[in-house]
Amino acid sequence: MPTSSVQPPLEPQSVCHPITSSAIFMVATIAPGSEDGVRAWCADIAGLVRSVGKRVPAGNLTCVCGFGSQAWDRLFGAPRPAALHPFREFGVEGRMAVSTPGDILLHIRAEQMDLCFELATQLMTALGDSVKVVDEVQGFRYFDMRSIIGFVDGTENPVGRKAVGFTIIGDEDPGFEGGSYVLVQKYLHNMTAWNSLTVEAQEKVIGRTKLSDIELGEDAKPSNAHSALTVITDENGEEVKILRDNMPFGRPGAGEFGTYFIGYARSPQPLELMLENMFVGRPAGNYDRLLDFSTAVTGGLFFVPSAYLLEALAERTGGL
Ligand code: HEM
Repeated sequence: MPTSSVQPPLEPQSVCHPITSSAIFMVATIAPGSEDGVRAWCADIAGLVRSVGKRVPAGNLTCVCGFGSQAWDRLFGAPRPAALHPFREFGVEGRMAVSTPGDILLHIRAEQMDLCFELATQLMTALGDSVKVVDEVQGFRYFDMRSIIGFVDGTENPVGRKAVGFTIIGDEDPGFEGGSYVLVQKYLHNMTAWNSLTVEAQEKVIGRTKLSDIELGEDAKPSNAHSALTVITDENGEEVKILRDNMPFGRPGAGEFGTYFIGYARSPQPLELMLENMFVGRPAGNYDRLLDFSTAVTGGLFFVPSAYLLEALAERTGGL
């Protein structure tokens, strides 16, 4: 009998998902010797999302799961995603995009925090002692899509087919189609210094107006504005975008005000070029003014397998 030539579905995880009101970001390391348990868990994730999400269909619950470079080798071995590597640090002392430990990233989104909370609980229960959570952030929507520094965040994100085209791997990496790369960084802001700026000065830092979120004209936008240094082009001069779903978080009582940055792309390259422009500068020294008020305290790069591959990975016989 001829073997079937039907390809498995290459449906991505919920990468290109509409921005929600709530999110939980979890980064965990895998305990030594727990690789088998984590691998088996990969087959359970989708079912847990269905079980929790079904109870509140309008809550739009999703989960994206990614793996760091070393974790991939430990869990799954070869073949591996072509461009997956440990997070590269950028910057100079005092202004660094730091790399911090992390094997697994969970990006849980919903319209209600209770759904995110319940799913995080179920996922952690299933993992048990196999992992140690090294960072956990609950993010919330802040008014009309504002970041904690008061500017609308996410405006220039690609949408629809463009979002898919910029984030989802195609035939450039056979076996990993439908996957994506994701960069996360947890930032803390010095709100006293930020709030001491006039609104006009803040607008020059971001490169957009604060209230109405309109891009500043070329004459008015400094070359070290955040939205100047994060615009990049490919070798043909075409703009290359990433998909961001940043969330504010914080503890006012502790004086903590933060942005959890999360950016998806089809390859790590645009993410890293943006970081280089921000932290090193374009040209070097002309760094992002936003970093005078923001410190990256975590950083990690992860590969997000397609939904199909995520389940299939549970059957791999092992890594290193
Ligand atoms: C301190 C953390 C950050 C904050 C508070 C922040 C905030 C913002 C805001 C308010 C905008 C303008 C509105 C918009 O288009 O979304 C923006 C734009 C943008 N940001 Fe960030 N951002 C942060 C970190 C990053 C990082 C680390 C990257 C990339 C690695 C990045 C990439 C971008 C891009 C690509 C744009 C759109 C630029 C354009 O096309 O005009 N951001 N960000």
